Parts: sequence; structure tokens; C-alpha cells
Amino acid sequence: MKKMKLRSMTMGFKHFIFALLAGLALLLVVHAQDQSGFISIACGLPVNSSFTEKNTEINYISDATFIDTGTSNSISTDIKDSHQQQVWNLRSFPQGNRNCYSINVTGGTKYLIRGTFLHGNYDGQDNLPQFDVYIGANIWETVRVDNSSISIWRELIHVPSRNYLQLCLVNTGRGTPFISAIELRPLINASYVTKSGSLALNWRADVGSNEGYRYPDDVHDRYWQSLNYFSWTNLSTNLTVDSQNHNDYQAPSVVMSTAVTPLNGSAPLGAFKWDSDNASTEYYVYMHFAEVVKLEANQSRSFNVTLNGKYWYGPLVPDYLSTTTLYSPSAISGSGNYQFSLVKTEKSTLPPILNAFEIYKVKYFLQSETDQEDVDAIAKIKSTYGIKRIWQGDPCAPKGYSWDGLNCSFEANTPPRITSLTLSSSGLTGQISADISNLVMLQYLDLSNNSLTGSVPDFLSQLQYLRVLNLERNQLSGSVPAQLIERSDNGSLSLRILGKGGFGTVYHGNIEDTQVAVKMLSPSSIQGFQQFQSEVKLLMRVHHRNLTTLVGYCYEGTNMGLIYEYMANGDLAEHLSGEKTKILSWEDRLRIATDAAQGLEYMHHGCKPPIIHRDVKCTNILLNENFHAKLADFGLSKFFPTDGGTHVSTRVAGTPGYLDPE
Ligand SMILES: *[C@@H]1O[C@H](CO)[C@@H](O)[C@H](O)[C@H]1NC(C)=O
Ligand SMILES: *[C@@H]1O[C@H](CO)[C@@H](O)[C@H](O)[C@H]1NC(C)=O
Ligand SMILES: *[C@@H]1O[C@H](CO)[C@@H](O)[C@H](O)[C@H]1NC(C)=O
Ligand SMILES: *[C@@H]1O[C@H](CO)[C@@H](O)[C@H](O)[C@H]1NC(C)=O
Ligand SMILES: *[C@@H]1O[C@H](CO)[C@@H](O)[C@H](O)[C@H]1NC(C)=O
Ligand SMILES: *[C@@H]1O[C@H](CO)[C@@H](O)[C@H](O)[C@H]1NC(C)=O
Ligand SMILES: *[C@@H]1O[C@H](CO)[C@@H](O)[C@H](O)[C@H]1NC(C)=O
Ligand SMILES: *[C@@H]1O[C@H](CO)[C@@H](O)[C@H](O)[C@H]1NC(C)=O
Ligand SMILES: *[C@@H]1O[C@H](CO)[C@@H](O)[C@H](O)[C@H]1NC(C)=O
Ligand SMILES: *[C@@H]1O[C@H](CO)[C@@H](O)[C@H](O)[C@H]1NC(C)=O
Ligand SMILES: *[C@@H]1O[C@H](CO)[C@@H](O)[C@H](O)[C@H]1NC(C)=O
Ligand SMILES: *[C@@H]1O[C@H](CO)[C@@H](O)[C@H](O)[C@H]1NC(C)=O
Repeated sequence: MKKMKLRSMTMGFKHFIFALLAGLALLLVVHAQDQSGFISIACGLPVNSSFTEKNTEINYISDATFIDTGTSNSISTDIKDSHQQQVWNLRSFPQGNRNCYSINVTGGTKYLIRGTFLHGNYDGQDNLPQFDVYIGANIWETVRVDNSSISIWRELIHVPSRNYLQLCLVNTGRGTPFISAIELRPLINASYVTKSGSLALNWRADVGSNEGYRYPDDVHDRYWQSLNYFSWTNLSTNLTVDSQNHNDYQAPSVVMSTAVTPLNGSAPLGAFKWDSDNASTEYYVYMHFAEVVKLEANQSRSFNVTLNGKYWYGPLVPDYLSTTTLYSPSAISGSGNYQFSLVKTEKSTLPPILNAFEIYKVKYFLQSETDQEDVDAIAKIKSTYGIKRIWQGDPCAPKGYSWDGLNCSFEANTPPRITSLTLSSSGLTGQISADISNLVMLQYLDLSNNSLTGSVPDFLSQLQYLRVLNLERNQLSGSVPAQLIERSDNGSLSLRILGKGGFGTVYHGNIEDTQVAVKMLSPSSIQGFQQFQSEVKLLMRVHHRNLTTLVGYCYEGTNMGLIYEYMANGDLAEHLSGEKTKILSWEDRLRIATDAAQGLEYMHHGCKPPIIHRDVKCTNILLNENFHAKLADFGLSKFFPTDGGTHVSTRVAGTPGYLDPE
């Protein structure tokens, strides 16, 4: 078996402090093992490329299919030889606050997830960053790079609830985030069980050995670092410690075949100790024991385990060449530092033994991810319209990082929901996507200023919480679903569906299969919105067969639209100018004149207060299918700019040429 040195640690027990998980060079392999279920991603590798790492024979693939942002970089050549190939490249994220990988996994499976970070002076400037790494909506670790030639890794034992895992790098303003490798290894469900929470690795050690191990020695590809203290003495066996069949933790034989006992055979074994950053931090500890010495009939080895001097478990008698894993079914907490010792029992002829141990910190991932239906719907919307924004990671969570254009509701104990979607001016083409109707909690939908075609779909009426629907300035046609009109009428929905804007542009559309005419007024043409609004409301109450009925109005910001009853033959000006093929008969002309006069007469004498049109002209006399006439735009002239662009005060209003010279 050919091996490279992991960093071996030898230090006086008194001086031993919590060991940081940094500084792994790596180790080697012999024969291939089953890699099934492994996901091994070398970040920054060119698209579609892959390689087999020569020491581990693990097959790594490019990260390009898991992310669509970031840039590929290589570490400086002079340090390549001291690192395995999966960290020779990396992906850095100079753009965006949050960049996320989305990796398909088997939901409900327990995984060992490892992120590796080797800066390698890829930027030529040795700019060493600090950044956060998230799993979905929750922070996993803060990564701080202190030395560009030392690789840092972080491990997490976690059960993804969904069939994908999102790993996000978040820029916290302390330099450009990057990542070198992502590795996922399935574990046995019955191992590393917690009451709640996931487990972040604090320390994993193979005591009494002078090398580090990983796959294929470890079928789960855990990294084991060697650890030695001056107060320990080594024991080992050349025989296989067959843990695989007996123990769910499957500590590798090579790890279990080395062990330590105290140098002073009658003293306790000071096993390991560490400091906690916070007394409320919770830990899970796993100790692996196997007898490596064939005991004589008159020999025995049994010991108790103490934590901070207090009895914790025992007596324990390790089995010969078979692993016993000792762990607590619930987390350890409440102290600033922890020290585990192994104390020989009175009957025991031999001192205590320890082969390996692992310490994990509990991570509570409390922020739930966005509701699955919302996630699926928004993902489809993103792909349907080919949305170019950085829409990665969880759409809503964490709170400060919701996707651009989305607002969400956050309530305790329920997944966040998408409540608002704004995709205005986003170059959307095609029809309104049916996937929008699956965002069932949507209250606000703004698709204005795109090039959407087709009709206003019926499925939008299924969005029962919708309060604002803005579809303006698209190329939509056809009728508007009756239910939406109804909700707009009863005031529960603000509906904006008009076509291209601008003053005087008349858009003919259908509302509930009734044809209408719409006249848009540009912002500059309205002086005093409040006044305009009250005037329009008043005019909506004026009804006469020779006055066009104003059936409604709508507004968006400063743009106003007036909705009139539909007049099939347009305005009189079109007919007098000869644009139309039909020549008006003398009889038609007379009737039109009397119709218009009757309309004026009603305005002057039938209305209280009287309405003065102030802009009577051919374009304001509209004709129905039988060439009967109605007046339009009465009472509004003071709000309209003049066609000729001449300023007209509100007192004397109208179109020059039609104005009373006085
Ligand atoms: C990667 O492979 C896929 C599938 O074989 C192929 O469609 C794609 O064009 C390849 N991309 C590049 C950049 O070679
Ligand atoms: C991940 O799974 C989804 C849904 O099953 C699938 O559409 C997608 O292609 C998968 N992605 C990769 C990279 O395999
Ligand atoms: C970084 O680590 C390397 C390898 O351990 C070491 O030789 C070097 O001195 C370190 N650099 C700094 C700046 O600490
Ligand atoms: C894994 O174990 C947990 C608790 O021990 C159990 O609730 C869960 O159902 C198991 N999952 C599978 C897939 O067996
Ligand atoms: C135990 O083995 C390690 C690794 O071989 C070595 O560094 C250490 O000195 C040994 N300890 C003793 C007490 O022999
Ligand atoms: C293991 O094998 C080596 C070489 O064959 C031998 O020197 C050593 O004494 C053996 N150790 C044990 C504990 O049997
Ligand atoms: C060995 O340990 C015992 C019990 O702790 C102690 O009494 C004794 O002095 C120690 N011997 C040495 C040489 O340190
Ligand atoms: C310790 O952790 C608890 C719970 O996570 C937190 O509320 C508290 O602020 C932390 N204390 C310190 C000193 O960091
Ligand atoms: C155990 O038995 C062996 C002979 O089998 C003997 O040499 C040794 O002294 C005995 N040890 C003890 C502690 O009784
Ligand atoms: C070990 O634990 C057992 C069971 O609790 C106890 O009876 C015994 O006194 C302990 N021995 C030592 C040396 O602590
Ligand atoms: C969405 O959230 C942003 C930021 O909090 C806010 O400014 C905006 O008004 C919200 N939009 C909607 C439609 O609620
Ligand atoms: C206008 O009034 C006249 C007479 O009252 C009527 O005959 C005519 O049909 C009316 N015009 C329209 C468009 O209804």
C-alpha cells in the first residue's frame, strides 16, 4: 500500500488545543472500491471534462452543469504537486452576492458533504478572502483563507430533504468567494443519528498512526488525520480489523489497526479535549475502540470513560479486531471546554486503549426552504422565458437574498411562499406561462412592458389572492376573463391590461366580449390627477344616446386610460377627409349634425352642473354602425394638451381652429 503523509500531529497533552481542519496534503490508494453514490465535483474544470485522481482513483467531473455563474481559474503551478488534482482548478465568484450550485441528490439520504477550498494564488495577487458557505437557505460555515497554499475543507453530515442540494457561496464584503471541490458521500442512515440538526465536523483523528487516510481505505471517504501525543504509546496489529460487518460507522481497518495507551500504564488515558466557542454549542462525540493485542488468559482490558472528570460510560471492554463505537444518543453541551479521559477499572490488568475518535458540532438549519410547488413553478418560468438574471439557490430564503423580482412571505414553521413576481421590462416573449398559476399565493404580478402575445389567460383568475395584475404594454389580444373583470369591478383587484401607451392612442379590445375603445393619456397631458379622477367619475354618470358613454378608466402610475363604449364607424373626421370608401349622404350629414347638437343641448341643459364641451370638432364626433352620432371627450378638454401644441389655459380650452375666437 503506497501512501503519502497526512500531517502528523505530535504535541504534549498539556498544550493540545482544538485542532483546526486545515492543512491536508493527501494520501494514496491501491485498488478501486465501489464509488456508487459518490458525487465528486472538481470546480472550475472545463465543461464536460473529467479525470480520475491518480491516488484515490476517484472520478471527478466538471462543475459546469451544476452552476451557471462564476469564472474558472487554476492554482499556481508550483504548489500543484503537493495537492491532489481535484483542487488544481477552482471557480471564483467576482459577481453577485450569492452564487449557488444545484446538485441532484437522493432526498432523505444521509450524506457526508465536503467542500474544499485551496486558493493557490489563482489571482496572482494572493488576495485571501473570507466568505460564507450556505446549504440552501442556511449558513453552514464561514471560510477564512489565511494561507493560499494550504487547502481548507469543511465536512457536514446532513440529510437533504429534497432531491437536490443547493450549496451557495455568499460574498460578505471580505473578498471574492471561491471553491475548489465538492464531494458528497452517502452514509448509512443508522450512523451519526442526532436528536435534531446536522453535524459539522470539528475533528476526526486516527490516533497512534502517522498517516492520513481517506477513500478507498474509508468506504465513505472520510478524512482521518493522524494524532499522537508524547503521553501516549502506540499499539498496532497487522491483522484486519473487520468493522464492516458489525458496525454502521464502518471505521476503516487501517484506522482501527493503530491505537494508543497511556505511557504510564497506571495513569488514565487523556484522550482528547477541545474548547467550545460558546457554552450553548452542542457536540456529538464518537469514539472507536478495537482490541489490537491478543490477550493472554490472565490479561484483561476494561476502562471507564469520563467527561470533565465525571463518569460518562463504562466499563468498556474492546473486542479483539472488532470495532465498538461509543457515542452519546444526545448532544453534549453546557461547558466552555470538554475533556474525555479513559480510566482503567480496578480489575483490568491492561491500561485503556483508544483507536480513533470524531467530534461534530450540531448545526441547526432552521430556515426552511421555499415551498416546493413555488420552487418548481418559478424554475419553469425561469426556463420558459430564458430569464438571464442571477436566479440561483432558494428563491425566497434566506430573507435578505430573495431572487431579484420576487417578494416572499416568511412565517414561522412554514416554508416561505412567493407573494410577488415582477418581470416588467424583461424582454419576455410568447404567451403568459401557465406555470404562473402554480404560484398560488401570488398577490402581485407585474409582466408589463414585455412582448407577450396571446390572450389574457383564464388561469390567472385561479390566483385567488391576486390584488395587482399589470399586463400593460404587451401585445396581448382577445377578451379578458370575466372573473378578473368582476374582481376589478368590486375593487379586489387592480387590473391593468392596456396595449401600447401614449396620448391619443386608441386601443380596441374586448372586455367580457363587449367591444370597447380605450384612449390613453400620457402623463404630461394630465394636470392634477385628483381633479381628473373626480371629473371622470362624474362623467361616468352622464348618459345620453348622443353622448359616448364613458364605461371606465384605469391608471398605472401617471398613465391614464379612458374606456369608452365602442363606436363601429370611428370618428367623423375620417369620413369627411375621404379616407373611407363610403361617402356620407346628405341625409347622413344632417342627422349627424342634429345628433351632435342634441348631445350638446343635453350637456348644456340636461346636466347639473352644465357641461361645456370646449372641444367640439370632427374627431370628437363618433359614429356607430348605422352612422348615428355621439359626442366624445366632453368635459375633459381641460386635461388634454392641444393637438397643435399651443398652450391653452384651463379656462379656455380646446383645439385651436375649433375654439370660439372670443
Ligand atoms: C457537453 O456535453 C453535452 C452532452 O454531451 C453537449 O451537448 C455539449 O455541447 C457539450 N458542451 C461542450 C462545451 O462541449
Ligand atoms: C436534476 O434533476 C432534475 C429533475 O429530476 C432534472 O430535470 C435535471 O436534469 C437534473 N440535473 C442534472 C444535472 O442531472
Ligand atoms: C503557508 O503554508 C506553507 C506550507 O505549510 C508554508 O510553507 C508557508 O510559510 C505559509 N505561508 C504563510 C504566509 O504563512
Ligand atoms: C433514517 O433514520 C431515521 C432515524 O433513525 C428514520 O427516522 C428514517 O426513517 C430513516 N430513513 C431511512 C430512509 O431509512
Ligand atoms: C507512535 O507512532 C507515531 C507514528 O508512527 C510516532 O510518531 C510516535 O512517535 C509513536 N509514539 C511512540 C510513543 O512510539
Ligand atoms: C507487522 O508486520 C511487520 C512486518 O511484517 C513486523 O515487523 C511487525 O512486527 C508486525 N507487527 C505486529 C504487531 O505483528
Ligand atoms: C503514573 O501514574 C500514576 C497514577 O496516576 C502516578 O501515581 C505515578 O506517579 C505515575 N508515574 C509516573 C512515572 O509518572
Ligand atoms: C451562544 O449561542 C447562543 C445560541 O446559539 C447565542 O444566542 C449566543 O449569543 C451565543 N453567545 C455568544 C457569546 O456567542
Ligand atoms: C500471565 O501469564 C503469563 C504466562 O502465561 C505469565 O508469564 C505472566 O506473568 C502472567 N501475568 C500476570 C499479570 O499474571
Ligand atoms: C467504572 O464504572 C463502574 C460502573 O459505574 C464503577 O462501578 C467503577 O467504580 C468505575 N471505575 C472507575 C475506576 O472509575
Ligand atoms: C418587494 O420588496 C421590496 C423590498 O422590501 C419592496 O421595496 C417592494 O415594494 C416589494 N414589492 C411588492 C410588490 O411588494
Ligand atoms: C341621437 O339622438 C337621435 C334623436 O334623439 C337619435 O335618433 C339617434 O339615434 C341618436 N344617436 C345615437 C348614436 O344613438
